Amino acid sequence: MNKHHPITVLILCNILLLLHTLQAVHSHTVCIIGSGIGGASVAHFLRSYSDSHTIGQITVFERNDVVGGRMATVTIAGETFEAGGSILHPKNYHVLNYTKYLHLRVKNPKHSDDSLSLGIWNGDKFVYKTLNSNSKLPIVQRFVSIANSIRILLRYGVFSLFRMSSFVEATVNKFLKYYEGFESRPMFESVDGMLKWAGLYNLTTRPLGEELVELGLSPLLIQELVTVITRINYGQSVNISGLAGAVSLAGSGGGLWSVEGGNWQMAAGLINRSDVVLHLHEEIESISYLGDVYELNSTKGKSYNCQVTVVATPLDESSIHFSPEISIPPRKLQHTHATFVRGLLNPSYFGLDVLSDIPELVGTTESADIPFSSISVLKQHEKDVTYKVFSREPMADALLDDIFSVRVETIKINWGAYPRYQAPEKYAPFILDGNHLYYINAFENAASTMETSAVAAENIARLILSRLTGQVNFSSPNLKSFSSDYPSVMHSDL
Ligand SMILES: Cc1cc2nc3c(=O)[nH]c(=O)nc-3n(C[C@H](O)[C@H](O)[C@H](O)COP(=O)(O)OP(=O)(O)OC[C@H]3O[C@@H](n4cnc5c(N)ncnc54)[C@H](O)[C@@H]3O)c2cc1C
Ligand SMILES: *[C@@H]1O[C@H](CO)[C@@H](O)[C@H](O)[C@H]1NC(C)=O
Ligand SMILES: *[C@@H]1O[C@H](CO)[C@@H](O)[C@H](O)[C@H]1NC(C)=O
Ligand SMILES: *[C@@H]1O[C@H](CO)[C@@H](O)[C@H](O)[C@H]1NC(C)=O
Ligand SMILES: *[C@@H]1O[C@H](CO)[C@@H](O)[C@H](O)[C@H]1NC(C)=O
Ligand SMILES: *[C@@H]1O[C@H](CO)[C@@H](O)[C@H](O)[C@H]1NC(C)=O
Ligand SMILES: *[C@@H]1O[C@H](CO)[C@@H](O)[C@H](O)[C@H]1NC(C)=O
Repeated sequence: MNKHHPITVLILCNILLLLHTLQAVHSHTVCIIGSGIGGASVAHFLRSYSDSHTIGQITVFERNDVVGGRMATVTIAGETFEAGGSILHPKNYHVLNYTKYLHLRVKNPKHSDDSLSLGIWNGDKFVYKTLNSNSKLPIVQRFVSIANSIRILLRYGVFSLFRMSSFVEATVNKFLKYYEGFESRPMFESVDGMLKWAGLYNLTTRPLGEELVELGLSPLLIQELVTVITRINYGQSVNISGLAGAVSLAGSGGGLWSVEGGNWQMAAGLINRSDVVLHLHEEIESISYLGDVYELNSTKGKSYNCQVTVVATPLDESSIHFSPEISIPPRKLQHTHATFVRGLLNPSYFGLDVLSDIPELVGTTESADIPFSSISVLKQHEKDVTYKVFSREPMADALLDDIFSVRVETIKINWGAYPRYQAPEKYAPFILDGNHLYYINAFENAASTMETSAVAAENIARLILSRLTGQVNFSSPNLKSFSSDYPSVMHSDL
């Protein structure tokens, strides 16, 4: 072959540069507000499902000085625990894939569910308590575990418990439709449409309690065990929707896991690998549509222009000003106060003589006089214990001094945790203005979990790409294959 003449090379370079510039003009800039699992996921899927011709710069704004949002850890007694979103289900496939993609380690909770002793406190006494073996002998433990199963069957009824687990399984199976390929899975502009397609919509139109009564569950099971679970997972009663209820119940089963070192690392890793410009400690206070771009102004007095804007945070307690105004159904957030205590519980608060009679997980029934939703053991130290308390109201120090006989260290966190579920649910649209302003957390009225945020974000990434490129179906050859964008580790089987 003949050698290239320098001039030819120069011209070629110029042409390439020109092509690059043209490309940049056609690629779209995206601004994402919020660096939780929702914001991180939408950035990730936008990059996975497209190339730089379609999506140019992606900027993520986060008002805190760390990423992760409601995924965060707390350090008490020198050890780190999940302070917000903590447990993941074995069929939470997006987050499971993230951990592989990001080389994070999966951790199974210390106590498998049946070895964690449970008590149901009604404000007066424990109405149900599992037997607790202090024996280290496997045969004794096995015996106690069988005895506990028999006790639970006797109290709540075989039929009721069976119906409850079938209900949860059927709901989880419907949810799996959201992992189908593009050929069979359309994209959705509304939460209603998305839920109807999977057969989940009806579950959001009435309360869990009603749904379970209709399925023939015993009133005692609903008042006690089911209530304990909805209070732990959503800080609310069995008045939450059937779907949010099924999701809570699924989160009390076996095989649950979390990310070693903290779930927030999923958001950090996705943002790191998605070619994102991250602005920490910068809160967006207004979003104005100027015709072809959105102008985002921040509390730092700065102004940014983007062709696409994704709101990846609940708007219910947000002060973001929209111009033109947007209108979404009113929704309140349930606040959950997470109080971490290193110390010792006071047995006499529970009418007991010795500390070891207090179950490791104290759940509660729905009663106005109980000042907390749950208390659980996070870690047994040599002389004392680290506990996590969930409550709807802040735990005053005087109250903590009643419940605990010893308190070495206390950390209190107030979360705007999840929506106050109110069946029938009303949803905000995924597209807030008919243009390119998207809202991931519209899906939170269906259920609020790390995985549901990822599922909603994936749908929105597809929606954005299809609406930018004018494709109706979006299962076209233009779409970069999902797997080609992942390193080979992603091909390992799950
Ligand atoms: C106590 C608790 C326990 C939970 N337990 C579980 C569980 O066991 N399993 C589970 O799956 N889920 C659980 N959840 C729910 C789960 O944590 C959330 O559903 C999920 O993390 C929500 O992610 P997100 O990205 O949609 O929102 P967020 O994580 O809330 O992210 C939104 C981000 O946007 C930022 N932001 C807000 N406004 C602005 C602004 N104007 N400008 C810039 N940044 C802004 C916020 O600081 C935040 O970082 C729990 C939640 C809580 C609070
Ligand atoms: C569009 O998607 C549907 C499934 O939602 C599929 O049946 C149809 O063949 C697709 N059409 C084209 C043109 O790809
Ligand atoms: C949901 O409810 C409607 C109206 O009651 C009914 O027609 C429909 O079949 C139900 N869908 C499912 C999936 O149960
Ligand atoms: C459930 O909601 C109904 C109607 O809003 C209310 O009367 C009832 O007290 C609620 N029950 C619980 C347990 O919160
Ligand atoms: C970001 O990702 C790269 C690999 O792409 C890795 O080497 C680096 O440690 C990551 N940084 C952070 C802060 O996670
Ligand atoms: C945003 O900032 C720009 C530039 O400072 C300003 O012109 C504009 O009025 C601001 N918009 C809002 C809604 O405050
Ligand atoms: C997770 O990764 C596997 C392997 O690459 C892939 O087959 C699967 O579709 C992915 N799941 C989701 C939900 O993206």
